[in-house]
Amino acid sequence: MSIKQIILSRLHSIEREGMSDLIHFLTSESDYFKAPASIKGHCNYPHGLAIHSHNVVELLLQKNNQYHLGLSKETIYLAGYLHDLCKTNIFYPTLKIRYNHKNEKECYFTYECLDDVPLGHGEKSVILAQQYIKLTLEEILLIRWHTGPQTPCENPYRYDQALEKCPAIKAIFTADEEAATFLETIKPTPVFQPSVFYAWKKTGVLPKI
Ligand SMILES: [Fe+2]
Ligand SMILES: [Fe+2]
Repeated sequence: MSIKQIILSRLHSIEREGMSDLIHFLTSESDYFKAPASIKGHCNYPHGLAIHSHNVVELLLQKNNQYHLGLSKETIYLAGYLHDLCKTNIFYPTLKIRYNHKNEKECYFTYECLDDVPLGHGEKSVILAQQYIKLTLEEILLIRWHTGPQTPCENPYRYDQALEKCPAIKAIFTADEEAATFLETIKPTPVFQPSVFYAWKKTGVLPKI
């Protein structure tokens, strides 16, 4: 089974009102299964977001067993697969021109970040998910605080309050960090002849990468 098939079968196993709408958003109204997880960092290539989200779920499943966190599978799937929902529909594939180390012009593939729904990071993921399904408070806390103590907040002590309420936040935070650091790679940007850039400008068709 591909990662996409595993993600979809796990999400389909969740019986919650609105799940089919959420799955429709992931498969048909967003680039969830095509987008990268970042432009220059971890999983900076097509399908990177789904790969990263899946890695976080797998680590969270392990941590849940090892540390007896008491999270249900449903909560792990929702928190893990949706924690970076904020990254859907913001990365646009594009070609650019630059000079390489030999001072020759070259064309390279990258992404442009254009966020039409600027609502933050974890909080944006919560807001987007809740347009389709109702999350539990535990799921909201996990997604909202998955970036750990560095999560922007008007009062820094609120992270400690969130941890008190839901200690598993530390597990999704470390799962996120571990996935990005140890499981995922940063791929060099694909490079082409400058003619590819000009052809794309004319036709709008990106080369296969
Ligand atoms: Fe994130
Ligand atoms: Fe993440």
